[in-house]
Amino acid sequence: MKKLAVLTSGGDSPGMNACIRATVRRALNRGLSVSGVRKGYEGLIDNDFVDLKSSDVSNIIQRGGTILHSARSERFHAVEGRKSAAANLEKHEVDGLVVIGGDGSFRGADALASEYAIPVVGVPATIDNDLWGTDLTIGFDTAVNTALDAIDKVRDTAAAHDRLFIVEVMGRSAGFIALEVGVGAGAEAVLIPETPTDLERICRKVKDRVSMGRTSNILVVAEGDEAGNAFEIARKIEDRSGLKSRITVLGHVQRGGSPTTADRVLASKLGWAAVDALLDGAWPCMVGEISSEITHIPLQDSWTKRKPLDPLLITLSENL
Ligand code: F6P
Repeated sequence: MKKLAVLTSGGDSPGMNACIRATVRRALNRGLSVSGVRKGYEGLIDNDFVDLKSSDVSNIIQRGGTILHSARSERFHAVEGRKSAAANLEKHEVDGLVVIGGDGSFRGADALASEYAIPVVGVPATIDNDLWGTDLTIGFDTAVNTALDAIDKVRDTAAAHDRLFIVEVMGRSAGFIALEVGVGAGAEAVLIPETPTDLERICRKVKDRVSMGRTSNILVVAEGDEAGNAFEIARKIEDRSGLKSRITVLGHVQRGGSPTTADRVLASKLGWAAVDALLDGAWPCMVGEISSEITHIPLQDSWTKRKPLDPLLITLSENL
């Protein structure tokens, strides 16, 4: 193996830059040259490659976003798109590909590996933390700290006005962010897609608290909760109980910002490990970290297996 390429794909997450840096430097360190592919699979299809030297990844470890840019590529779902991508990798004499992203990105990487025998390794980077095979994904820690900081501020104004707030956090099909920040912020209820949402019970709880004189109430809802988004839940709560609420949708704020130490360190470890996995022939795999050990799982497991939520956190969110 003489040359590898690295790309970031799907929703960006804080720490992607730290991971690019580690990937590039580990590859150079092991005698490989490195190309960066801009805009994820779109750049693979459009032949948007840039050479990366050590100095190109200086001073990026602290930056959110991704210097390589990212995209969600519809064209890569089609055989034609993957054919162009594989041809471009061949044109650039790339022997291995590191894909930094989430489950959708890994499905694409796996297709490339099986259809064109391209060595690929996935590095889990998504704020959602919804990937099997790693305790944490790159970006989750930063996202939950950003959300927590915002909810603490909402608590101040909720307390000042004796109000009920519904705060919506990201997580289309996973409640990891909601559960973590819900427990961290002392939310009165956490609504997540993995557990049934009992709005009657929530209304009773809020009313009981109000009657006990505890008038600031915060509900944290994952955007993918089966009862609806924050606006729908607010309407349902008002219809059932007459309780009025204010709504805060945190949205893409959670995806930005300087990564936390934990995310920078995880990204550095996994970028390093991805290069080693390619050189050791461990592909197609996803590198991860479980109980402080670097692990490799078959790439497919990252999306075919569902990572469970921590049951203790669910208990805490319901009882504290
Ligand atoms: O996958 C990460 C994520 O931030 C999800 O939590 C969210 O539902 C989605 O991306 C939003 O995607 P987009 O930025 O493409 O609208």
